Amino acid sequence: MKVIGTETSQILASRISDALKINFVEVKFSRFPDGELYLCANDLDQEMIIVGSIVNSDSLIQLLLLIDACGGSCNHLVVPYMGYARQDKRFKPGEPISARAIARAISRGIDSCITVNIHDKNVLSYFDIPANDVSLATDIGNHIVTMGLKKPLILAPDDGATTFALQVATVGKWDCDHLSKTRISGDKVKIAPKSLSAKNRSIVIVDDIISTGGTIATASAMLKKQGARDVYAICIHGVFTNGAYGLLKAAGIKEIICSDTIERGCSLYSAASRIADTLTQ
Ligand code: R5P
Repeated sequence: MKVIGTETSQILASRISDALKINFVEVKFSRFPDGELYLCANDLDQEMIIVGSIVNSDSLIQLLLLIDACGGSCNHLVVPYMGYARQDKRFKPGEPISARAIARAISRGIDSCITVNIHDKNVLSYFDIPANDVSLATDIGNHIVTMGLKKPLILAPDDGATTFALQVATVGKWDCDHLSKTRISGDKVKIAPKSLSAKNRSIVIVDDIISTGGTIATASAMLKKQGARDVYAICIHGVFTNGAYGLLKAAGIKEIICSDTIERGCSLYSAASRIADTLTQ
């Protein structure tokens, strides 16, 4: 068995190969003169682990090309961040179910699939092959331990993230609470106060995705008004669209952290060991 990755998931794919103690396959990536993507993989195996986050259209095409290049092998797909997963329903007539379209496309030529903290687990049923989701909640908890915060309050920005936040808080037996969020538009949210006091406390807001940063910036402003000492933001998938990292920094968030499902300068903990464990189960 060997590991191979698209350009967007080189570091995570190599960490998975290290964790599994198996070889990492080199791929040459380039473009044709008209801009179309090209790749050529070196020395494939009969059993392959293909790792590729879908962060934009090019990364999706590259993943499809890599799956095709591995044709004929038994292929296990790892999609650390599955873009398009948030359009998981037809909200009005004429819309695609984008998550289903992507899941079907990447199922072809694949024997099994692993996603990481997918936005809604119902999306797994759109794959034409067995698909499982792994959660990095415990890994976030382990990272918080290394930060040495005194009695942090772990906060979910909305009801939907409460179970996730509780799983994080269980690691250090920390207090946990949630805010109540109403989305007003793509990048604007209204946040209602929570029940536990933030005064003089270190608050860690945990979420699956930071996209525009609107959710966490709004939550942080409210927490600061309530006297929070420091506010930290930790997510799984650091999408950081439209300068979201800068927005959060300017909003006074002390540290902004994500995993390497999307490889960023602030990817301070890795999904590799959790994925490797699942692959060997
Ligand atoms: C929403 O349900 C998600 O869990 C995140 O809270 C959301 O995607 C964050 O988006 P943004 O950073 O744009 O506020």
